[in-house]
Amino acid sequence: MTGEESSPSGESTVVWSAPTVTAGDRAGLLGHGAVTVWLTGLPGSGKSTLAHAATAMLAAEGVLAYVLDGDNLRFGLNSDLGFSPDDRAENIRRAGEVAALLRDAGVVVLASFISPYRGDRDRARSLHPDGAFVEVFVDAPLEVCERRDPKGLYAKARSGAIAGLTGLSAPYEKPDNPELRIDTAADDAQTGAAAIVAEVLARVRRSGDGGDSNVG
Ligand code: ADX
Repeated sequence: MTGEESSPSGESTVVWSAPTVTAGDRAGLLGHGAVTVWLTGLPGSGKSTLAHAATAMLAAEGVLAYVLDGDNLRFGLNSDLGFSPDDRAENIRRAGEVAALLRDAGVVVLASFISPYRGDRDRARSLHPDGAFVEVFVDAPLEVCERRDPKGLYAKARSGAIAGLTGLSAPYEKPDNPELRIDTAADDAQTGAAAIVAEVLARVRRSGDGGDSNVG
């Protein structure tokens, strides 16, 4: 598969179908705009915990939010992918596309993926309008993540049961310029989630003068 369908003459045979109901219309229905919050970090850094805590806080604020979780997507949409650099790139490509679609539908997306490669994350960002992608570096020292080891991954990697674990035997490229950095070794989950929620609300709430949010 080439990814580009074309007729024998080489012309493209797919045509973009423009919607009649717009993202702005959907924001009007819901009463808020939408962004993708992209949480990246080492295994055990606290991405999923923050994503779920922020989602609950947003629900309490009347904001529709949804967690897109790396582990969970690997049970379905991405069940054909492993952890080679190419498979991770494809994993993040699909996740970025799903996040962009959900966000366009009006949902605040909390995307929780190790997403170790800068280029893959930047590609996900490029699928979003300006201001609608919030990269959050969920930062904790490797020693702290390994001590937590909520899924026993580091122990398995140390014993040789799994190869290429991010942080130990596979690379993690830190974000250069994330919109937010949350130090989960210093701050508890509620504090970190509150910082995310404040950033989201500033972007998705309509301003008091009746104007549109910038990411409707
Ligand atoms: S990513 O690197 O492609 O972004 P993703 O976030 O989807 O990874 O999935 C990470 C999850 O896969 C981890 O939480 C862990 O449960 C599991 N996993 C299994 N093997 C590995 C590995 N070698 N490296 C990282 N995660 C792994």
